[in-house]
Amino acid sequence: MTVLVHFGIIFVGVLGLLQPATADLKLNFYAKSCPKAEKIVLDYVSKHIPNAPSLAAALLRMNFHDCFVSGGPFWRVPTGRRDGLISNASEALANIPAPTSNFSTLQTDFANKGLDLKDLVVLSGAHTIGVSHCSSFSNRLYNFTGVGDQDRALDSEYATNLKARKCKSLSDNTTIVEMDPGSVRTFDLSYYTLLLKRRPLFQSDAALTTTSTTKTYITQLVPGTLKNFYAEFAISMEKMGRVGVKTGSSGEIRKHCAVVNS
Ligand SMILES: *[C@@H]1O[C@H](CO)[C@@H](O)[C@H](O)[C@H]1NC(C)=O
Ligand SMILES: *[C@@H]1O[C@H](CO)[C@@H](O)[C@H](O)[C@H]1NC(C)=O
Ligand SMILES: *[C@@H]1O[C@H](CO)[C@@H](O)[C@H](O)[C@H]1NC(C)=O
Ligand SMILES: *[C@@H]1O[C@H](CO)[C@@H](O)[C@H](O)[C@H]1NC(C)=O
Repeated sequence: MTVLVHFGIIFVGVLGLLQPATADLKLNFYAKSCPKAEKIVLDYVSKHIPNAPSLAAALLRMNFHDCFVSGGPFWRVPTGRRDGLISNASEALANIPAPTSNFSTLQTDFANKGLDLKDLVVLSGAHTIGVSHCSSFSNRLYNFTGVGDQDRALDSEYATNLKARKCKSLSDNTTIVEMDPGSVRTFDLSYYTLLLKRRPLFQSDAALTTTSTTKTYITQLVPGTLKNFYAEFAISMEKMGRVGVKTGSSGEIRKHCAVVNS
């Protein structure tokens, strides 16, 4: 069976008690040792995501931590990942693209993981769902270059609105803002429309419209179908899902996903 995850996430950690049979990542890795494993996980996720839509965004983000494997629109999730022997928060954070990253940093970070500019544009589309704290972008509103200025790449009407209604000061670290206002729960193309209107929250989003290569990908996605976006997203997610994966006898199988076995 091919696992098709619809807007759900497979939590590999719960499979930790199972012994892998071979050394490769593959579809339905647990077919023999626990035939129902993938269904159990899928059922759990399907049941809980509707109650907590913000969980989808959080879990999608977790994909960068190699702890969860996420399903988006629709994609196949090969299983059989093992866990790392090191659990280091600062190291994990250093590997996640920061919301303040500029284009060259994003390009380098992605290239270091074997991901190209198309993957960057397509995976950034995950910002169609979810929310952000003001602290991830308030420098764009209040102190972009360190002289109390606003990021000129940000639509000024939108910036004024954010300052008046949401992030009322540079130091606000509690208010939450929707990344794709109006359709924050829908995995659609409106994130890209907002990019072209100069209305994304993060500098790392705005960076995508600063080079012709990435801007072309965006202008091709926007008038396209959702089906096309989902297909592209699936390709890049599968590609990302294979980055730095441990299989066979490397790493370990954690009893608790978040911590190295003692
Ligand atoms: C975590 O990783 C950082 C960056 O690589 C390193 O400086 C630090 O010593 C590590 N901490 C532990 C506890 O291993
Ligand atoms: C991008 O950001 C990095 C890290 O902050 C910085 O070293 C680099 O100079 C920046 N590049 C450009 C073109 O601004
Ligand atoms: C703006 O940034 C500059 C340079 O980092 C800093 O010196 C200044 O204190 C910041 N302003 C505010 C209001 O935080
Ligand atoms: C938020 O800001 C307050 C006041 O500046 C500070 O005490 C608190 O630790 C900050 N919280 C986080 C999560 O950074």
